[in-house]
Amino acid sequence: MSLTERIAALEAELESATARTAEEVEKFRVAMLGRNGAVTELFEAFKQVAGEEKRALGQRMNQLKQAAQARLEALKSGVEASGPAKGSALDMSAPALTEPLGSHHPISIVRARITEVFGRIGFTVSQGPEIEDDHHNFGALNFAPDHPARDMQDTFFVEGDDRALRTHTSSVQVRVMESTRPPIRTISPGRVYRNEAISARAHCMFHQVEGLYVDKGVSFAELKGTLDYFTKSMFGSDVTIRMRPSYFPFTEPSAEVDMSCSICGGAGCNICKHSGWVEIMGCGMVDPAVLANCGIDPDEYSGFAFGMGVERIAQLIYRVPDLRMYWENDVRFLDQFSAATFRS
Ligand code: PHE
Repeated sequence: MSLTERIAALEAELESATARTAEEVEKFRVAMLGRNGAVTELFEAFKQVAGEEKRALGQRMNQLKQAAQARLEALKSGVEASGPAKGSALDMSAPALTEPLGSHHPISIVRARITEVFGRIGFTVSQGPEIEDDHHNFGALNFAPDHPARDMQDTFFVEGDDRALRTHTSSVQVRVMESTRPPIRTISPGRVYRNEAISARAHCMFHQVEGLYVDKGVSFAELKGTLDYFTKSMFGSDVTIRMRPSYFPFTEPSAEVDMSCSICGGAGCNICKHSGWVEIMGCGMVDPAVLANCGIDPDEYSGFAFGMGVERIAQLIYRVPDLRMYWENDVRFLDQFSAATFRS
């Protein structure tokens, strides 16, 4: 075959060359332009050609080389545009990689559940400031001026101010009573602060949900019925509650509410300290003096109030052994709640 014929044959080969993968493009490059490639070999043969013929063929040789390079580029970009084909490192049919979803904090889950249960029986949600004045946190709630709860031991005071971090969300109830006419049926979820040493069983900040119902003729029986409905909705219909006489400055009579231990069913375990009962909240009938302090006529209206710690309720639901775990943001702890939902 003459050199001219070989050039023509190669030109035809270049024209019809195809490649579906990057490997095939590389194969083409080696076959044509590689050290022993057809085009390279042709240039070796061309070196042997003499004088007149060399001049005549030189231009075609250069055109052939350019055509081979242009074809290589075209094949390359064709493969890139159509994406990697089957068998390459990237499998386009594989499911997409997604970021793992976070989870709601157990306190948020339980607070939302509590809110939902009370919402079913007509309780709205009220909020108030975390930095409170003495009147709303203590004074209006009948705390005597020398009551120990006002003491520096329990309360975080704001420096240079007569205000403090609220020690309970009863302060919100005062604000609601001062600004709303009965009937009032509301709960106040929120963060509260107490100057306590941090341990497995106590923290200097925690969450409460307090509740208030003020209307004509509200009775202690309604208080008990409401709390019984709440505990059964949260923990299941098997649990029962009992009330023990207690004292709060703002309720009279007052009670602590115990629930039959939801973990051992009342048989006795570590959580209930083998008593079969766990304390879950404080409650009572709103003291008539508190109603009067807030501008509500105690001769016309009566009310009940209750207050619980969200960490405590969550501890009983999820068996959290140490209160500090709620605040550490350890994902090994938090991940366990990813399947939990806001609804009860
Ligand atoms: N405010 C009380 C506390 O923080 C709880 C409570 C609320 C008790 C309402 C009785 C009635 O401990």
